[in-house]
Amino acid sequence: MNKSTLSDLQQYASQYLVGGISSSFRANPYTTLPMYLDHADGAYIYDATGKKYIDYFMGHGAALLGHNRPEIKHSIIQMLEKGFTAEFDNSMTVELARRLTEIIPSAEQVRFTNSGSEATSLAMRLARGYTKKEKIVRIDGHFHGVHDYVLFNNLAALVDKQNPGDRESHINLFSDGIPQAVTDTQIIIPWNDIEIFDKITKKRAHEIAAIMLNPIDYNNGCITTTKEYLSALFDIAHQRDILVIFDEILSGFRTGLSCAQGYYGVTPDLCTIGKALSNGVPLAAIAGKKEIMSKIWQSDFPVIHGGTFSGNLLGVSAALAALDIMSQPDFYPNMFNVANHFFDQLQSLFDTQNIPAKVQYLGSNFFIYFGIREPVTHYSQFEKLDMAMAKRFINASIDEGIYFHTDFTVSAAHTKSDVDRSLDIIEHITRRIL
Ligand SMILES: Cc1ncc(COP(=O)(O)O)c(C=O)c1O
Repeated sequence: MNKSTLSDLQQYASQYLVGGISSSFRANPYTTLPMYLDHADGAYIYDATGKKYIDYFMGHGAALLGHNRPEIKHSIIQMLEKGFTAEFDNSMTVELARRLTEIIPSAEQVRFTNSGSEATSLAMRLARGYTKKEKIVRIDGHFHGVHDYVLFNNLAALVDKQNPGDRESHINLFSDGIPQAVTDTQIIIPWNDIEIFDKITKKRAHEIAAIMLNPIDYNNGCITTTKEYLSALFDIAHQRDILVIFDEILSGFRTGLSCAQGYYGVTPDLCTIGKALSNGVPLAAIAGKKEIMSKIWQSDFPVIHGGTFSGNLLGVSAALAALDIMSQPDFYPNMFNVANHFFDQLQSLFDTQNIPAKVQYLGSNFFIYFGIREPVTHYSQFEKLDMAMAKRFINASIDEGIYFHTDFTVSAAHTKSDVDRSLDIIEHITRRIL
């Protein structure tokens, strides 16, 4: 593949690879082009044409420690030298599970998967099997991967905008090929509204196995909730024999080692983690209360989970190395120091130039809401988004060597000089084109 532009590369790749890519989310929503990499290192990616970028995408937010981290590489090489097989567990699998039970509040037991989608699918099945009830309540707009049960009302653009807040949301499909029967197993409700959860569950608790949500919504930028909402939701759910599942595939490890559940101080029954868990090497997990998790291994009619590559040892070894790094006392303070400096300076840069843009952040992730000046707390505010401005800004940033895609994140590899250089470039761009 020796082509001079990303567009040439996509054209060539598309002859053999549908869309020219292996995941439809690899096309950049702002440029429409996929990124093809030559290599990645630290806070930088180098595309297949040789161009270098400061990366604020970090592999869908998975490379929280930075790309090509030596400790991760070393752990993978050690595993390869032992004669890597994905198909059996070893002492590292057990050790990783043990360590997760120490740091993640809800984790009494763990089951490893390879992708986040596999984990959310298992969490839903486990909740149904454990409670003997079929319906799952999901939050309108929350993203949980790409299996049939979660491919509707899964982004802000698919939220039922007509919902006044006192009823369940209408279904808006994200994908063709989803059977109606699947959508009938779900009740979609607006987020951060305890009254609608109370109302729906009061009437229909006998049908509802669980509520699954993102404790921090980084899939629509960076929208948060409150301890009060999560605690009230938990209390109501438990009074009515409904399980609470936090999908922490993206929020996990971004605010600290104990994930968003530790940040908010509310412990769900089950949670899913992935991405940063193994710094981008394929691995995810579901973790939760022993009584519920053990349903996977009960002798009589268990909830089945298994797979040839489940909990593959390259991911497991990478996760152990990642946990060693993330457990160092200065890891999070150092990363947040650089990240917060970047986010605050970015906001003041927009403010100084009177550009309507809100930089919203929590932990290592952030988003720039162009067209909005006030804090973004509700998806209805997305109507004010200035997509044309966002497109101009991001296309120019990518031209100038700063890469944004869908997940906006700073990693532990970004130095103060990386972010200061980014701010200089961005200031130049905003003066020129916004
Ligand atoms: C919150 C959330 N859940 C689940 C998933 C699915 O994870 P994977 O892409 O590993 O299947 C993602 C992926 O972006 C996610 O952000």
